[in-house]
Amino acid sequence: MDILVEQNYESMSQTAARLVAREILLVPDLVLGLATGNTPVGFYSELVKLHEENLLDYSSLKTFNLDEYYPIPPSHPESFTNYMYERFFNHVNVPEQNIYIPDGTVESVEEYCRRYEEWIEESGGLDLQLLGIGKNGHIGYNEPGCSWDSVTRLVELDPRTMEGQSDKFDNPPTQALTMGVKTIMGADQILLLASGAKKAEVVEVALNGPVTTDVPASILQLHPNVTVILDREAAAELDGC
Ligand code: GLP
Repeated sequence: MDILVEQNYESMSQTAARLVAREILLVPDLVLGLATGNTPVGFYSELVKLHEENLLDYSSLKTFNLDEYYPIPPSHPESFTNYMYERFFNHVNVPEQNIYIPDGTVESVEEYCRRYEEWIEESGGLDLQLLGIGKNGHIGYNEPGCSWDSVTRLVELDPRTMEGQSDKFDNPPTQALTMGVKTIMGADQILLLASGAKKAEVVEVALNGPVTTDVPASILQLHPNVTVILDREAAAELDGC
């Protein structure tokens, strides 16, 4: 596992974007797994900037998002679909048919989740998966206690996950569609980002503690190709940082 510690949020975002940009330059038809949340906002701005400067072409890229609330219409301002279009897809040239985001409106959830896994498989698998980490150690919405062999499915959200979000929803969602731990671990390469003091403790536990389903991100210790990019605050609990 490579752990890079950057001075601040901006340099974390820039380094992450450069790493992904290089992969896209080398492999234009990269299959890229994407994440939402506050952490990658700067990362997406950097990728947009590279495109606007004509340095990067996304016309062959294929993307799969990690998760989406359920149920939620894509037009909801807090949906991850809306997040992705506002921050990235509306500003770059990823073809619409190459964009996969779990659909928070589907009725046949099991069938849809099976198809989501098939779409990833039919694309040749995830080349690179971007991840954030929840304060409780979740990756995607694989909450503490999830199974290591989980695939894309409907999950109950940990009550801590939605804390402080009630102002954003009339009825805060209690469920989400998420890629599973096995789906994530199937990616050839993983890029984990974390920023800010509030992530310092979970970063330390996930990277140095026991591999346990109590801290889903700890499974990344078993993946052979993980790059972690932290800002100083998120790295504060790691030895030597
Ligand atoms: C979520 C997402 C995760 C994300 C994590 C951290 O809401 N489902 O994919 O990585 O929680 O979020 P943030 O970056 O806002 O701290």
